[in-house]
Amino acid sequence: MRLILLGPPGAGKGTQAAFIVEEFNIPQISTGDMLRAAVKAQTPLGIEAKKVMDAGGLVSDDLIIGLVRDRLQQADCENGYLFDGFPRTIPQADALKEANVSLDYVIEIDVPAEQIIERISGRRVHPASGRSYHIKFNPPKVEGKDDLTGEDLIQRDDDSEETVRNRLDVYQNQTRPLVDYYSSWAQSGDANAPKYIKIEGVGSVEEIRNRILEALKS
Ligand code: AP5
Ligand code: ZN
Repeated sequence: MRLILLGPPGAGKGTQAAFIVEEFNIPQISTGDMLRAAVKAQTPLGIEAKKVMDAGGLVSDDLIIGLVRDRLQQADCENGYLFDGFPRTIPQADALKEANVSLDYVIEIDVPAEQIIERISGRRVHPASGRSYHIKFNPPKVEGKDDLTGEDLIQRDDDSEETVRNRLDVYQNQTRPLVDYYSSWAQSGDANAPKYIKIEGVGSVEEIRNRILEALKS
């Protein structure tokens, strides 16, 4: 299984990725998680990326494409992969196409902007794993602690309301064009084109999970 999860910030890509990678036993390639790990380790890439991420902008295509190219070389990608938060621009999607990276599905999770602000403002994350919770909609078993490790949960630096509004604008301008890019490719009759599935992202975590898994099995 090779797929892309596409959707605005806070749509639930990371939340749903966890179920899909478990179901199909594939790695989750989240460029956001990879960048946050680089920021934490204070690598040159991390230091450069932090400023852009805190402002809600996009890290340069060249850096991201290099990061993903290296990640795909690793042995665990042989049986498939799930891209979460990548590609995010037309040049990133073109880079995948030019490298003949095969894809079975593009899944778009559609959530209206008002719900996104509410989802992101209540988000708490476990930095080491990227697992995310919500204080109201998806609470951890023990308040403020990760279910699996018991370690502290934090709020992401880019989850302030101002940065989230900026991230939503950046999504509309730079990432949303990929909806057309992939849906028209899917309809073009090209045998290499991934199938395009749009999932209604309003509903409980469990409902969205079932919608996605049913669509992937049919
Ligand atoms: P990234 O980490 O990819 O952030 P994002 O795309 O903005 O998405 P989020 O992680 O905020 O949301 P999500 O869809 O994963 O939602 P989640 O499941 O957590 O990128 C961060 C930054 O890195 C970017 O801004 C950019 O600077 C840089 N970057 C990353 N990739 C890049 C790239 N390819 N190119 C350039 N720059 C790049 O859910 C959100 C909340 O809602 C949680 O609290 C969750 O519990 C809750 N929730 C989930 N589902 C539901 C539900 N059904 N009902 C109610 N609540 C729900
Ligand atoms: Zn995420």
